[in-house]
Amino acid sequence: METNTKITLSVFLLSSIFLLCSLAQFCYAVDTVTQGQTVADGDILTSEDQTFELGFFSPENSTFRFVGIWYKIDVQAVVWVANRDNPISNRNGVFRIGVDGNLVVLNGNNSLVWSSNVTGLSNNTAAVLQNTGNLVLSNNESIGDTSRAHWQSFDEPTDTFLPGMRVPVNSAIGEFRAFRSWKSASDPSLGNYTMGVDPNGGPQIVIWDRMVRRWRSGQWNSVIFTGIPNMSNIASFLYGFKLSQPDENRTQYFTYDPSDPSDLLRFRLTWDGREHQLRWDDEAKTWSMLQTQPDPANICDIYNHCGDHAVCDNLNAPKCNCLDGFRPRVTNQWSRGNWSGGCERRVQLQCQRTNGTNSSTTARQNGEPDVFKGTRRVKLPDSSSLLLSAMNVDACKASCLGNCSCTAYAFVSGIGCMTWEGELVDLQHMDQAGTLQFFYRVHNSELDGGRKISNTVIIIISVLGACLLVVSIWLLCRYKKKVKRLPVVSSMPCCKEEDVAVFNESKNKDFSADLSGPTDILLDGSQVNGPELTIINFSSVAAATKNFCEANKLGKGGFGTVYKGELSGGQEIAVKRLSGTSGQGLEEFKNEIVLIAKLQHRNLVRLLGCSIEGEEKMLIYEYLPNKSLDYFLFDESKRSMLDWRTRIFGGNQNEANTVRVVGTYGYMSPEYAMEGLFSVKSDVYSFGVLLLEIISGRRNTSFRSSDYTSLIAYAWSLWNEDKAMELVDPSIRDSCSTNEVLKCIHIGMLCVQDSAMQRPTMAPVVLMLESEAPTLPVPRQPTYTSMRSMVDADYSMDIHETASASSKDITVTMVDGR
Ligand SMILES: *[C@@H]1O[C@H](CO)[C@@H](O)[C@H](O)[C@H]1NC(C)=O
Ligand SMILES: *[C@@H]1O[C@H](CO)[C@@H](O)[C@H](O)[C@H]1NC(C)=O
Ligand SMILES: *[C@@H]1O[C@H](CO)[C@@H](O)[C@H](O)[C@H]1NC(C)=O
Ligand SMILES: *[C@@H]1O[C@H](CO)[C@@H](O)[C@H](O)[C@H]1NC(C)=O
Ligand SMILES: *[C@@H]1O[C@H](CO)[C@@H](O)[C@H](O)[C@H]1NC(C)=O
Ligand SMILES: *[C@@H]1O[C@H](CO)[C@@H](O)[C@H](O)[C@H]1NC(C)=O
Ligand SMILES: *[C@@H]1O[C@H](CO)[C@@H](O)[C@H](O)[C@H]1NC(C)=O
Ligand SMILES: *[C@@H]1O[C@H](CO)[C@@H](O)[C@H](O)[C@H]1NC(C)=O
Ligand SMILES: *[C@@H]1O[C@H](CO)[C@@H](O)[C@H](O)[C@H]1NC(C)=O
Ligand SMILES: *[C@@H]1O[C@H](CO)[C@@H](O)[C@H](O)[C@H]1NC(C)=O
Ligand SMILES: *[C@@H]1O[C@H](CO)[C@@H](O)[C@H](O)[C@H]1NC(C)=O
Ligand SMILES: *[C@@H]1O[C@H](CO)[C@@H](O)[C@H](O)[C@H]1NC(C)=O
Repeated sequence: METNTKITLSVFLLSSIFLLCSLAQFCYAVDTVTQGQTVADGDILTSEDQTFELGFFSPENSTFRFVGIWYKIDVQAVVWVANRDNPISNRNGVFRIGVDGNLVVLNGNNSLVWSSNVTGLSNNTAAVLQNTGNLVLSNNESIGDTSRAHWQSFDEPTDTFLPGMRVPVNSAIGEFRAFRSWKSASDPSLGNYTMGVDPNGGPQIVIWDRMVRRWRSGQWNSVIFTGIPNMSNIASFLYGFKLSQPDENRTQYFTYDPSDPSDLLRFRLTWDGREHQLRWDDEAKTWSMLQTQPDPANICDIYNHCGDHAVCDNLNAPKCNCLDGFRPRVTNQWSRGNWSGGCERRVQLQCQRTNGTNSSTTARQNGEPDVFKGTRRVKLPDSSSLLLSAMNVDACKASCLGNCSCTAYAFVSGIGCMTWEGELVDLQHMDQAGTLQFFYRVHNSELDGGRKISNTVIIIISVLGACLLVVSIWLLCRYKKKVKRLPVVSSMPCCKEEDVAVFNESKNKDFSADLSGPTDILLDGSQVNGPELTIINFSSVAAATKNFCEANKLGKGGFGTVYKGELSGGQEIAVKRLSGTSGQGLEEFKNEIVLIAKLQHRNLVRLLGCSIEGEEKMLIYEYLPNKSLDYFLFDESKRSMLDWRTRIFGGNQNEANTVRVVGTYGYMSPEYAMEGLFSVKSDVYSFGVLLLEIISGRRNTSFRSSDYTSLIAYAWSLWNEDKAMELVDPSIRDSCSTNEVLKCIHIGMLCVQDSAMQRPTMAPVVLMLESEAPTLPVPRQPTYTSMRSMVDADYSMDIHETASASSKDITVTMVDGR
């Protein structure tokens, strides 16, 4: 009996608790509206995770009632408004699902003030407020399933973009102005400003003031919007936008994923026409502003502030400047700071002249084709006339040059080839957009003078010239100390048969027989293991080349002259006669011999032997007509390098004779020295060493006894500690331009990187030297490392970008190397 009572009591208590819980749940935290339920003024729907609320609210300083969604933590943080244009003047409004299945807002007289307005719904619908802040209307059975939603508030946003929202991008549909500002801070009705995506020619975010553009983000490059400063900073809250792959209707969607999903974030288009990114600061219990566009502190953010063909720079006075080759349209207004007229061409384009009535005399006299001028660190011009195409950088330039309606082009990684027609609009200087560069078309006469040599080149020539002078003097002193009498070969008559001695009898062997087996050779008393190598005495070489006959000369380089010769056995040889004043010491010469002899790579000519007599040093190669010899010795790229170098250094080059054989130890690129791989990039390496030598006034190999194994290691260590200026020869350090020298050192470091793939080719190197402030990649530490192939794999992508951008512009991808 007693136990029965107890059980009954327990059951009763449990039931009561259960009932209470159920009731509590019913009254509290409802996130859905179903058919027949109403949300009256004062009732609240709350998302399941308590982030968002839906209900009636009045904006600050207003008594009107609106149905909206807001962050629960702040009732004024409204992210969506239903009846924005139809306020309810009293508190009798209701929000519910109408008889036709739509979500509706009714005023106190039961007349409709807002409807989700979808046709053909069943009367069995329900809506749910999701944790993202999205209100979703769907059939009762599939409630909350956005993929089967009839309607969702994320598809009809008001002035706020939330994480999780998708903004469609489809060039067939065109501009999509998803967001519309409030009329004022206390009036949610439709304001003057819209914000959305312009998909044409590289999607970008745009804010319009009624029909006129007010601000744009710059083209999307698949990671960032190129015209927004600081966006590439991963720590930036702007970082996290994504553009989806096109769906079946070729629509793409912009989405945004915050790095920390627990952050409460919103992007709002304010009533005064700015986009604010806000984040809830839980400690300060307030919204902190992460960024604002257009930046109120930067007038240049306002669309085309300076007018056409002018670049706006907020930190400059005056802020507006015409592009080179352009002049103000209305000069007196422009000088008064009224920029609205913009700029126009000083000289009409050649392609336009020849096309029209003016194709007569003047055009023909001055008929050189138009040229492109490049400008860097700019927000690229607006897209209204921008075309995108899948071309490489050269084809991009060519296609623009070939079409008179093309006024500019750019090649941007992540976007590709961009070409513009007509006016170049809304240009802004951007320090942060260091790699953005575009080229605009001007008449040929707009290039500086006829000689096309920029001031920078002249400065570099002066600097390097001064440096070279020091090196020359040093070399001269050195040379004078150890000058010796040369064998009197040159006085011997040329090409006299009787002077042609038989091949060195003292060896008493057939030359080619010597080549077949390994032979230990003695150089200056020190023994060197050299397979297939022999020492040939000087007179034999002289004989074989008919006393270095002019007719036998194959060519001449900075390092000496190459002759063709024929041994008594009939074997053809090539003799590289290093000029006596060559800076190459015996030690290096021996190293070259040994290395080349060991490598015997197929890209290299086979070294048969050498000859040393006094200052006279010669290398004897097998002669391969039209093949590697020519390639090796007179390789096109090397030639251009020498040409180029001569042009910079002026006539001193030949006297100074600092150019040593590429194979000389210290100039050999790692891949050549270690694997015998020889390529264009090996020359780049040698050039880099030379550049560093000129700057430092020291030889690469002069370091072997010190703490650093080489000049390169020394240069790197200084470079890495930001003390690169200490590398510069003290005697010229004060007279050199720091920036120019640092640039040269930087370029030198790029050229001597271990990985051939990371080294630039000679063309961009020249461009880098010529341009004033190129954006240079960060060099990697040169270590002669065996890890090279791994590094190459890691960087293959960067290389691809670099290569594609390198041939005509200085835009080199940043490679994070340190
Ligand atoms: C509301 O009115 C007060 C007093 O006039 C003003 O200081 C405040 O800025 C107003 N708030 C908004 C959002 O307009
Ligand atoms: C609602 O009814 C009141 C009086 O009943 C009337 O004054 C008001 O104009 C009505 N409003 C609308 C929107 O019909
Ligand atoms: C509903 O849509 C129809 C056309 O589809 C339109 O004419 C009407 O104005 C819309 N009503 C509301 C309240 O948006
Ligand atoms: C929904 O519509 C069906 C017919 O289409 C009708 O039979 C039913 O009564 C309606 N239910 C409600 C709640 O209106
Ligand atoms: C909607 O579904 C819920 C259960 O999921 C049910 O309780 C409710 O009666 C349904 N409403 C309608 C109108 O069908
Ligand atoms: C919106 O445009 C109207 C008409 O030009 C203007 O009077 C009003 O000041 C503008 N509002 C804002 C917030 O700029
Ligand atoms: C960009 O970053 C720099 C340094 O971090 C900062 O000084 C500057 O204000 C930022 N600019 C913008 C527009 O946020
Ligand atoms: C593509 O368009 C068709 C017709 O407008 C539509 O039915 C379909 O849902 C769309 N597909 C996607 C993925 O939006
Ligand atoms: C500014 O210059 C333009 C012509 O470039 C002129 O039409 C306009 O009236 C000027 N505005 C002012 C305020 O002077
Ligand atoms: C050049 O020719 C094209 C078509 O032949 C024409 O449309 C264009 O107006 C011409 N341009 C000039 C400057 O005459
Ligand atoms: C032809 O030249 C005259 C004067 O040199 C110039 O005013 C005119 O605009 C030119 N016409 C065209 C089509 O280039
Ligand atoms: C030049 O470019 C315009 C626009 O890009 C294009 O319509 C036109 O066909 C092109 N002309 C030629 C000759 O390719």
